[in-house]
Amino acid sequence: MLLLTRRERFNAAHKLYQEDWSAEKNAEVFGKCANKNWHGHNYELFVTVKGEINEATGFIIDLKRLSEVLQEKVVEVLDHKNLNLDVPFLKGKMASTEVLAVGIWKEIEKEVIELGAALHSVKLKETENNFVEYFGPTA
Ligand code: NI
Repeated sequence: MLLLTRRERFNAAHKLYQEDWSAEKNAEVFGKCANKNWHGHNYELFVTVKGEINEATGFIIDLKRLSEVLQEKVVEVLDHKNLNLDVPFLKGKMASTEVLAVGIWKEIEKEVIELGAALHSVKLKETENNFVEYFGPTA
């Protein structure tokens, strides 16, 4: 079994804010991320797939097709968007890195399987120092 990782990048705006809470509680829990007029991040996404080498191609997945899936399902949906307002798969959810990583997994899992591999992890870097790794619902 081998792992293969494709990186994509996008930037997006968001805020972390719980509508049911007071402004004070939001500020206490989310700090600057609760700023009502939004802020942005340059996200880096690492999608890792696993599989066996196809003897005819020498690959475990067609990287060009994987890149196309990530462009269509993730980058075009998220890049230059407001995560709280513009993204159907985040509707009604917190726009945290954790929730976003899980959402990206759900958006691409079926397509990765159709390309003959399995999804191993979705790693999403929000800043140089903060990133999340998701290994699927059972891990
Ligand atoms: Ni933020």
